[in-house]
Amino acid sequence: MDRRNTNCIKYDGMRIYYKSNDYIPMWVADMDFPCAQEITDALAERCRHGIFGYNLKPKEYYQSIHDFYLRRHGLEMRMDRMLYTPGIVPAIHWSLLCYTQPGDGVTILTPVYGPFAKAVNITGRTLYESPLVNNDGHYEIDFADLDEKLSRSKVLLFCSPHNPVSRVWTRPELERVAELCQKHDVLVISDEIHCDFIMPGYKHIPFVNVSEDAAQRTVLLVSPSKTFNVAGLLAGTAYIPNDELFITFRNEAAQLNMYMTNIFTAVGVQAAYEHGDEWLDQVLKYVHGNYIWACEYFREHEPRIRPIPLEGTYLLWLDCRAVSKDDAILKDIFEEKGRVAGEAGTQFGNDGTGYYRLNLACPRSVLEKAVKQMVAALKQSQVES
Ligand SMILES: Cc1ncc(COP(=O)(O)O)c(C=O)c1O
Repeated sequence: MDRRNTNCIKYDGMRIYYKSNDYIPMWVADMDFPCAQEITDALAERCRHGIFGYNLKPKEYYQSIHDFYLRRHGLEMRMDRMLYTPGIVPAIHWSLLCYTQPGDGVTILTPVYGPFAKAVNITGRTLYESPLVNNDGHYEIDFADLDEKLSRSKVLLFCSPHNPVSRVWTRPELERVAELCQKHDVLVISDEIHCDFIMPGYKHIPFVNVSEDAAQRTVLLVSPSKTFNVAGLLAGTAYIPNDELFITFRNEAAQLNMYMTNIFTAVGVQAAYEHGDEWLDQVLKYVHGNYIWACEYFREHEPRIRPIPLEGTYLLWLDCRAVSKDDAILKDIFEEKGRVAGEAGTQFGNDGTGYYRLNLACPRSVLEKAVKQMVAALKQSQVES
């Protein structure tokens, strides 16, 4: 499906971020697949009504979210502890403003989604980075370092599953994180936006399901935007089991009237959560196939590029350090010569140096073209490692 000239960032925004539209876009984390027909139908029907006045979010809206996460992840959210947010990043900023003061410490596990560090810096909080360890292609938490960073922090800004290294944290890992947060009395903002993209053999565990203590110190953030490819509807849900934390978030949000929803958001989101499972399962299978294809192609044609095993998300993190540890060189090869617009590793912090991220949520033909162009450009460049 052609997305050019629809004002979408992934295609039309390349003009701004890459100075040209002449690339294969593999960067922004949305998908090149039309969303489920049920979502389009629900939006079209609402549109045909022709009156777009002030609106309520019906009880069924929250019910659809509740039922989906219960069905797919065994997450039983209390409906009176759920709040609409206009996306996950705004909810992260909002949480930092609600629960911390300027100067308070916030820990993130790096490399991680760039807006995490930005949210901490822009709100004037103190950023602590706890680097993940790449243990022969398997990223792990350095618990001793995390312990030390949390001793100086009020908040852990956690990504589960983790973008970009694609880890689906195991129960023992989550339990150790939760224990450290309890030890240092740290609030957890758990961004679980990628939780519906879990590859075969892995299981997502919502942070609030780790223990009662974890639940009581967590602001859990989920969203339909990755799951159903509806990022433009601007929707997210904050689930806050603890009474006091919930009331603080709700009262502060009310000051900005942040709970009001765009009329189409509620309709589209409810349709997605109620009717999107089958579509999602098909997309999951397809993305997994794309991942397998990319791994095989790199292994056969350019083993210096090592894909990190995809456990969750639809974002493939490529270890390119055997080619170069210099982002500028990798960008020159993949982008300028290969004409592929992926994400340079340093977009995710300094620990991302020597890595490159590709979005797998596209037709196989597009992925094949992009990967082949990257490999051909690399062979022509003859970079010495
Ligand atoms: C970890 C993570 N959080 C949040 C977002 C964006 O969330 P939203 O568009 O709802 O603000 C992304 C998008 O890629 C992401 O990867």
